[in-house]
Formats: sequence, structure tokens, C-alpha cells
Amino acid sequence: MSNIVIVGAQWGDEGKGKIVDLLTQYVDIVVRFQGGNNAGHTIVLKGEKFIFHLIPSGILYKDKKCIIGNGVVLDPGVLIEEITELKKKGYLKEDSQLMISEGTHLILPYHRRIDTAREKIFKIGTTGRGIGPAYEDKMARCGVRVIDLLDEGVFRRKLEENLSQKNLYLVQVLKERSFEVSEILEEYLNFGKQLKKYVKDTSLVLYEEIKKGKQILFEGAQGALLDVDHGTYPYVTSSNTVAGNACAGSGIGPTMIHSVMGVAKAYTTRVGEGPFPTELRDRVGDKIRERGGEFGSTTGRPRRCGWFDVVVVNHSIRINGIGQVAITKLDVLNDFEKIKICVGYRINGKVFHHVPSSIEMLNRSEPVYEELSGWKTEIKGTRDFSDLPQNAQRYLQRIEELIGTKITVISVGSERNETIVIRNPL
Ligand code: GDP
Ligand code: IMO
Ligand code: MG
Repeated sequence: MSNIVIVGAQWGDEGKGKIVDLLTQYVDIVVRFQGGNNAGHTIVLKGEKFIFHLIPSGILYKDKKCIIGNGVVLDPGVLIEEITELKKKGYLKEDSQLMISEGTHLILPYHRRIDTAREKIFKIGTTGRGIGPAYEDKMARCGVRVIDLLDEGVFRRKLEENLSQKNLYLVQVLKERSFEVSEILEEYLNFGKQLKKYVKDTSLVLYEEIKKGKQILFEGAQGALLDVDHGTYPYVTSSNTVAGNACAGSGIGPTMIHSVMGVAKAYTTRVGEGPFPTELRDRVGDKIRERGGEFGSTTGRPRRCGWFDVVVVNHSIRINGIGQVAITKLDVLNDFEKIKICVGYRINGKVFHHVPSSIEMLNRSEPVYEELSGWKTEIKGTRDFSDLPQNAQRYLQRIEELIGTKITVISVGSERNETIVIRNPL
């Protein structure tokens, strides 16, 4: 038995969806444990593209179960659209393939309105999906959970109680429109009816399945530098994205997790505001964006691009307990004469090898680079490490040395099979 957590090691969009899809073949159940539909996880299977915002990336395997854990914030309308789309394509034929925790908190329309209104006052560059406000309500103990949606009386009462406060905040503080109870009530009760069949005590399900020897993969969303405690606060998301949260976010204990894999791009990207030491605001950055198709899977926004940052990935290895790394999108660097790796930050003349907690210091960081030669060769068809061009091998070996962690998977294209598996991660 071996249960694994897969997390983003940078600022999100590292290719977690592709790696989770690839590794689902070795497990029985895939669990999302945090975040919501701010995530966009892409899988390309024989030319067909799927982007999952809420459904775990294991869903394309008909015999594997998928769980949306209690740590997720769930927009039920988005989930229903995702389910409908999947069924149309011939997937999710058995409803028992998908489970939603009773304790998952709901995103309500007022969360979205608060999110977008607050962006006009202090811009984080959020996805506008209501993620932050929904997590705030969870912590304030006025959140509404999936289980509440299944009881009309409870849902109506919680909605009325919330709206009496949210409307004041929306109108008087944010100068936005208020909501009528009726605008939300019927629509959400109807969502509840459609989702009822998926709702379970998923902590109990996981516990029993693990006892039977079933293998679980926990699928992280976002990335380590977007973690609310350990990321580039306040330019972060509103959940703990680190592997440790796989436990709290799905209702199992730490002794049930056996390994952690970090997914990192062969370079770095970030969407939204906030510090990004290796960002390239020049033609090189534009070339990475263009070749890597670096436009958000959720919002379509152009992603900011830069060189691989060892300081960031080492931070991520530490806070997640990462024992192995998957490097993705190596093929995007096929056409560069020179490739740089950031090995430290120069701040006020001193070189640092860790991510400073102070945003002001991070903003002043100048990357210290090592420069390597590119390989100028197409590598999409490569399936063995030894068949990679020498310079590509050298690039990966140098990263491995600098992060002190084994690279077990290398992705050279978006398709499931465009991958070099050096060692089975499980
Ligand atoms: P996630 O949020 O971490 O799952 O990543 P996204 O799906 O948001 O972004 C990753 C993008 O890169 C998607 O469009 C993937 O199809 C694509 N992708 C993943 N791995 C590779 C790769 O090795 N090479 C290339 N060229 N594209 C990849
Ligand atoms: P996946 O799972 C990249 C970013 C947003 C913004 C910040 C806060 O696909 O890797 P939020 O809406 O969460 O309050 O926004 O976090 N962000 C992501 N960036 N990938 C993601 O998810 C992200 N989810 C949120 O752009 O900067
Ligand atoms: Mg994404």
C-alpha cells in the first residue's frame, strides 16, 4: 500500500493534471483536497483536451473512483456543467465513480460578487470565482456546506442569515448590488437535487478503502508559492496548498500518506499579481509564453514567464516534504541557445538561498543565474532519458543536483504518453 500526494512546486499550472492522469493507472482513488474552480487542470488524451476545475484528474479512467474532499470550496453550478460535459463525451457513466464530501463548503453567488468587488480595491489578480470569500466564511463558521443543501429548511435558514449580513457589506461597504433570497434559493436547491447522489461521508469511505489496501492519490491544486501560510502572502490563494493539507482536506491522518511528489515546470510561470524574481519581461519571456501556450486554463489570462528558480523549488521541497519531482514542459525549451537557472537571490548586495518572508525583500531580489547551453532539438518523441540530447540531460542533472531531489518523471509534451518515466513514482 502506498498513498501519494501530488502538489505544484511553483505558482500553479505546473502540469499537475497531466501527471495525475498519468499516475492514476497505478492507484484506485483520486482525491482533490483543497482549492476550488480557481484551478484548471488540463489533460490531453489522443488529441482531445479536457480542463477540470473541480473534478479530480483521475476521472478519465472508468474503473477509478474520484473524490471531492471537504477541504475544497465547491461551486455547484460549475461542477454540474463539468459533469454534464464529461457525460456527453462518454465518461462518468457510473455515478458511483464520483463522490463529494458532505462537509465541502459551497461557493455562493455573493462570494463571487465580493471577490470581484474587492479586486477593484486591492488587486491580487484572483480568478474572481469567490474562492477567498468562501474560505473566509468557513473560518468564520457561517459557511454553508454541501450537506446543508440537501435539507431545504436548513439551507433556507443559513442563506437568510448570511444574506442579512452580506447584503449590508455588499451595498454599504463595497457599493455593489444586494441579493434577494429567492435569487439563490431555488437555483441552489435544484443543484442539491442533482448532486445528492454523489454526496457521501468521504472520510469514512477513504478510511475503509485504505484499510482494504486500496491506493490513494491526493491531487493538489495551485502551487506551494500560492499557499496561504507559506507562499508570497498576500499574493496567494486562500487555502493551504501544501501536501500536509491532504490530510485535513480529506479527513485522513498523516500516517496514511507515504510519499509526496512535486510537479515543476522546466521554467517558471505565475498568473495574477505578486513578486516573481525570475520573471522575464522581454522577448525571451514572450517566446516561452508562446511556445508553452502559457495562457490560463481558467481565466485565459496570459501567464507571466521566467527561468527555472531553484530557490522557489527548494522552498517547496521543504514545506511539502517532497521526495521526488516531475519536471514538465521540457519541450518548451527546445529552441533556446542559452537556458538559465536561478540559484540564489541578491538582495541589497547579499546572496540568499531561501525565499524571504518579506514581500518587500522579495520584490527587491535580483536572481543570480547559472547559464547552460540549450539543445535546439525536438524532444517530444523521446521516451528514454538516454535518448534526450546531451544538453537536455545536463540541464536536468544540474537541476537535480541543485534541488537535491530525484527527478522521476519528465514530461515532453501534453499527451499522456509524451512522458519519460525514470522510476515508477509509486
Ligand atoms: P495544472 O493546473 O498544474 O494542471 O496545469 P495546467 O493544465 O493549468 O497547465 C499546464 C499546460 O501545459 C496544459 O495546457 C497542459 O496540456 C500543458 N502541458 C503539460 N505538460 C506538458 C508538456 O510536457 N509539454 C507541453 N508542451 N505542454 C504540457
Ligand atoms: P491550478 O490548480 C495558477 C492564483 C490567481 C491569483 C491567486 C489568488 O490550475 O494550478 P484565487 O482566485 O485563488 O483567490 O486567486 O492565485 N491562482 C492560480 N494560479 N494556477 C492555479 O490553479 C491558480 N489558482 C489560483 O491567479 O494570483
Ligand atoms: Mg492550471
